[in-house]
Amino acid sequence: MNEIKIKTHGRVNLIGEHTDYNGGWVLPTSISQSTEIKIKKRSDDLITIRSSANRSHQYQLGQEAPKKTWSDYLEGVTFLLLKEKYKLQGMDLEIHSTIPEGSGLSSSAALEIGVLKGINEMFQLNLSINDIAKLGQRVENEFVGARVGIMDQMAVSYCQPNTALFLDTQNLSSEMIDLADLKFDLVIINSGIKHQLSAENGYNQRRRECEEACRLLNIPSLRLLHHKPLNFDSLPLVLKKRVGHVYSENQRVHSAIEAIRKKDLKELGALLYKSHSSLSIDYQVSIPEIDFLVDEFKNYPQIYGGRMTGGGFGGSVIALTEKGEGKNIADKIISKYWAKFNTQATIINY
Ligand code: GLA
Repeated sequence: MNEIKIKTHGRVNLIGEHTDYNGGWVLPTSISQSTEIKIKKRSDDLITIRSSANRSHQYQLGQEAPKKTWSDYLEGVTFLLLKEKYKLQGMDLEIHSTIPEGSGLSSSAALEIGVLKGINEMFQLNLSINDIAKLGQRVENEFVGARVGIMDQMAVSYCQPNTALFLDTQNLSSEMIDLADLKFDLVIINSGIKHQLSAENGYNQRRRECEEACRLLNIPSLRLLHHKPLNFDSLPLVLKKRVGHVYSENQRVHSAIEAIRKKDLKELGALLYKSHSSLSIDYQVSIPEIDFLVDEFKNYPQIYGGRMTGGGFGGSVIALTEKGEGKNIADKIISKYWAKFNTQATIINY
């Protein structure tokens, strides 16, 4: 096979934030925005990349090195496959993506997973979907330097429209939750403030704090708190807040599943608001712009609830609204946001 075309979609996480690297549960679903990748085999060892965003890059297989830019997600893929002793040869890659970067909608996972899928097919590597997701996570952890969990790579690999992936990140067992019968609009607004999950920002720090809490509590993972409630009052205040978020967020994911099964949108919305407060106050991964958007939601009785989605420190928010109401309300909120922050927020299609 000399030419392969692959398309992957971005994701939003409905609930279960900062739980994945703690062995907990998440509930992402796919968005319409996607990344299309064309791969052509070459006869030498050169990798060339052109993207519709007018970017280009090239490197020799085996000469990969992180450069702290978008191409790391691609160089990281071949770096890791070579490290795992897979046989590759040069390729020409063409990329066209409509997922805004830094929007918390998994543009990087869509790229890594798309390229991994394409290479898997082209060189017949026999990787399973889960192998590909795990390799994608390792690209971030070992090459890019972002210690992300597995949610985004699993979401990009498995999510379908109108269904949510109820994923147990500890053992990767999952269930598809049908959303088609629920009458709601899912509004997704990109705040226009780019987040970065790199070592320099709070993401890796949150991860270290959770690890430190586990060390002090003498448990392997915060997941354990779900099965065996432990008193964590003795932890230093910051760690107590972090653990409080992870513990309550895991409970909220399970409550959200119950609310979806009962078609109780009010309850689901209330859980989204609670998740946001916990992320903002206890986990401290929100920013004023994102809090403003979520506070604005509360002015509209047609909105059941909303919250930040993704890693935080910028990115996107979601709101669950009555059917047919989403677009109108989002337009009004975006105008108010512009007036306050002089920043253009945009609607993302679900
Ligand atoms: C980012 C990471 C995920 C997850 C979320 C927060 O999207 O890539 O692994 O940790 O943040 O829930």
